[in-house]
Amino acid sequence: MAIILPELPYAYDALEPYIDEETMHLHHDKHHQTYVNNVNAALEKHPEIGEDLESLLADVESIPADIRQAVINNGGGHLNHALFWELMTPEQTAPSAELAAAIDATFGSFEDFKAAFKAAATTRFGSGWAWLVVNKEGKLEVTSTANQDTPISEGKTPILGLDVWEHAYYVKYRNVRPDYIKAFFSVINWNKVNELFAAAK
Ligand SMILES: [Fe+2]
Repeated sequence: MAIILPELPYAYDALEPYIDEETMHLHHDKHHQTYVNNVNAALEKHPEIGEDLESLLADVESIPADIRQAVINNGGGHLNHALFWELMTPEQTAPSAELAAAIDATFGSFEDFKAAFKAAATTRFGSGWAWLVVNKEGKLEVTSTANQDTPISEGKTPILGLDVWEHAYYVKYRNVRPDYIKAFFSVINWNKVNELFAAAK
């Protein structure tokens, strides 16, 4: 068995005009495929540890030292992207009543949450991700990680994530990351976020 690239849950052009078709092809077919290839190459060296990336990345010290950084980078890259595709949809969706109440209780209002998420995505220096997570205390938190680090390695459950690597937006948005972040809010699959929130509580 090896880890395989999951198909997109929609057509490559489904998120137009917010996320363009060319970016989706490059991002999914090239970038995500490379993470899959590289994590498989690393895991092949240690068949004894299996392929459960969530468990491995939840305890990175358990990963053999000679492949640890490769699994953090490429296993994280695979998990993050597999989640990211599912977190977007061309359909109109909305936060559940339960999630909306938790967002209000944590951030003050939905607009305040949005501002916090946008700030995390905008100020993440270089490559990385912005996240809405459920932390160890069962509370919502906005955070960001560098490179392909996953919040799972910090004991947090990601329920919404935005890739802010340049490869995610440069074809369409060039250097204007804030416009890409704004566009992302038009394609969030809140049904998936609601499901992850309910499971994480
Ligand atoms: Fe990416």
